[in-house]
Amino acid sequence: MCGIIGYVGEKHPKEILINGLKRLEYRGYDSSGIALKNRSDIQIIKSKGKIKDLEEKVNILEIIESNIGIAHTRWATHGRANEVNAHPHKVGMVTLVHNGIIENASELKEKLSSVNFISETDTEVACALINKYYKGDALSAINKAISEIKGSYAFGILFDDNEKLYAVRKDSPLIVGIGENENFIASDIAAIIEYTNKYILLEEGEIAEITKDKVIVTKEGKVIEKQIIVTDISQDDSDKCGYNHYMEKEIMEEPAVLMKTLAPYLDDIDIIPDLSKYEEIHFVACGSAMYAGMIGKTLFEEYANLKCYVECASEYRYKKVIYDRKTLVILISQSGETADTIAAMRKAKENSIDTLAIVNVKTSTIARECDFKLFIEAGPEIAVATTKAYLLQVAILSLLAYRSSGGKDKSFIDDAKRLPGLLTDILNKKEVLKNIANEIANSKDAFFIGRGIDYAICLEGSLKLKEVAYTHSEAYQAGELKHGTISLIEKDVPVFAVISDENIKDKTISNIIEVKSRGAKIITVSNDEAILEGEFKIVVPKVSKLLQPILIVPTLQYIGYYVALLRGCDIDKPRNLAKSVTVE
Ligand code: AGP
Repeated sequence: MCGIIGYVGEKHPKEILINGLKRLEYRGYDSSGIALKNRSDIQIIKSKGKIKDLEEKVNILEIIESNIGIAHTRWATHGRANEVNAHPHKVGMVTLVHNGIIENASELKEKLSSVNFISETDTEVACALINKYYKGDALSAINKAISEIKGSYAFGILFDDNEKLYAVRKDSPLIVGIGENENFIASDIAAIIEYTNKYILLEEGEIAEITKDKVIVTKEGKVIEKQIIVTDISQDDSDKCGYNHYMEKEIMEEPAVLMKTLAPYLDDIDIIPDLSKYEEIHFVACGSAMYAGMIGKTLFEEYANLKCYVECASEYRYKKVIYDRKTLVILISQSGETADTIAAMRKAKENSIDTLAIVNVKTSTIARECDFKLFIEAGPEIAVATTKAYLLQVAILSLLAYRSSGGKDKSFIDDAKRLPGLLTDILNKKEVLKNIANEIANSKDAFFIGRGIDYAICLEGSLKLKEVAYTHSEAYQAGELKHGTISLIEKDVPVFAVISDENIKDKTISNIIEVKSRGAKIITVSNDEAILEGEFKIVVPKVSKLLQPILIVPTLQYIGYYVALLRGCDIDKPRNLAKSVTVE
């Protein structure tokens, strides 16, 4: 996902913009650029590759005097990852950075035939369109251009003959940071948190006209009064706090954020909504968030007797969905900006179906547009591979299942109160996990098998190994293995067997014996010391089934982390991945 930062104030923007880009690196990118401006000149410097490549370029060039600028990290969608396609783009009097996709770029380009386009990007087309309408009135030019643009955008815009910074958004988040004699724009607060904790959240179609001491927000020419939000996120939240990687820091934060998320509800469970009035639940999300939904489905069916479906948002948004009036669609999303999940949410709303968001970013599109919302208190999750946010999604789903069951499991509340301490103990025994990682670090393939809720756990354990360690890995229903995939099991292939459900434990053990007889290296992950199978064993304390995944998944997250470490992978920014996929 691209990242935007802009500055106008009394300082030279160079350091602020470069530092801001570094704080946006976690979003995933493949090129970057910066534009600095003064009354008579504009300087644009771009680079393929990492921010440090851009910084090296900036540091050897003679930089113009400036108090206003914009900068961008690009995750290539339209056009290759190269310097020409990197932002900022300039056409005529207009310089612009963009996060999103202009869906009618080709059509608009035909109407701009006089322009000599130099890049392959949709962004340059948007820049040319604003320039076409610019006759000295920036707001008028922007409004005319966005009335013709279809798709998603967050724009940061500069005009040659104007000392103001402009920002406008549709479907891609953009905030205006409010400083002392300086103001900012950014894709998220993490980019500017060391300068200000105050910001304005731009809504769809709103344009901000920004100078160092004034921010005017308008929509279709009318001034909009905006509330200034003060975030409780600290710079520490966004720093590694002594860990080598954000991913490890965020795994180790899990006990604390678990307590912060659960505590309000454990004192008064009635503040969690009772969903038993619904007859059908659709869990709709992407990636790990969808796998959290898989756990939710299993728990809701077993404890609350609710008919549940799990759908990946990219399918759900286009498929024929037969809605029953008493359906609830639960959207699960850390960022709250995943394009497919937003589309799925809007599809449900168009059908007058209730929507509930389980989301981390409180100001995100999904958080703002869903009928109901439950926030996880993960804080900023910087590593691209989700860990603490996924775990809290599962925790909220456990609470909902318990509440909607009418409090069926009497051990739930006590176990939930013990969870943070139990998880701390597990994470402190990381040597066991490191040893297992050592055993499998050179394996080309890995398999995760389990039944019921254990299969749902396997899905996330397998995805972690894939996305951070680049190990080919597959999660399989344990009973399914013999219907094909067992042909891939050969000597020393690692097979993680997750066994936490007492009712089907013996069945999974027989599947372990099947793969063991074919030479597999077995790692059992369970809540039962009595299980003897497995060359390697991870045993976590037994708690309510509603809460058991919360103790098991972090062990698999950590193993994925250690394998990635051993394999020298770019752990916080895995190749080809973005933290939030805000485009289709
Ligand atoms: C990153 O580790 C996840 N694997 C990724 O699949 C993520 O869960 C997915 O992209 C959805 O993101 P969201 O939670 O921000 O909507």
